[in-house]
Amino acid sequence: MRVTTTIDGRRVRLRPATLADRRMIHDWSYASDVAPLLHLSDAPTRPLDDWCDDWETHYFTDDEPERGRMFLVLDGEMPVGAIAYNDIDERRRVELDIWLNAEANCGRGLGTDAIEALIGYLEAELGVQTFMMQPSARNPRAVRAYEKVGFAQVPATPEEIAEDWGGVDHEDSVLMIREAWLAR
Ligand SMILES: CC(C)(COP(=O)(O)OP(=O)(O)OC[C@H]1O[C@@H](n2cnc3c(N)ncnc32)[C@H](O)[C@@H]1OP(=O)(O)O)[C@@H](O)C(=O)NCCC(=O)NCCS
Repeated sequence: MRVTTTIDGRRVRLRPATLADRRMIHDWSYASDVAPLLHLSDAPTRPLDDWCDDWETHYFTDDEPERGRMFLVLDGEMPVGAIAYNDIDERRRVELDIWLNAEANCGRGLGTDAIEALIGYLEAELGVQTFMMQPSARNPRAVRAYEKVGFAQVPATPEEIAEDWGGVDHEDSVLMIREAWLAR
């Protein structure tokens, strides 16, 4: 089995998340001051068991690296957020998700560093070629942050995003793509 190791960014480190981290990460999603930005288009609360139906066991183990993995973002030894890649498709494309755990940690370059670190890992270790993120248009900081790390906005309707990527998060999702070969 491939063992996922800690990934070094320039400022943060990404530590593979474990099953024991699930409650903390869930609580950041629903009970932190950034939570409203994560639920612009779905329910503002969700029990842990229900959340785990989407964030399945493989995100927290090394069992199925092609299906997705979650990492804690560490600033020094302090967990400041979570970042995940989802299932890698046959064209070596993958969707990323990220949420820092507090407003106080946003706007400091930690999230963008985490994204760059995860992309470098996925390119080098798993041969991923194309990265996708889909922030809401109501989250301009996320759109700007993803542009900073080489994502470009691609015009697409929600139906087109769902068709091409297997799901759409918001009625105003902004399709953002970073191609490995273009970003070099
Ligand atoms: C989105 C997120 C991961 C970005 O990471 P980050 O470390 O905060 O990003 P950075 O600090 O590197 O960059 C943020 C950029 O947005 C800009 N920004 C902040 N507020 C903004 C706004 N309202 N409109 C446009 N740009 C904005 C900042 O000025 C900065 O750009 P600059 O460096 O050119 O000045 C992080 O803010 C986060 O987790 N937010 C809360 C949860 C969330 O929104 N998750 C994403 C769901 S898709």
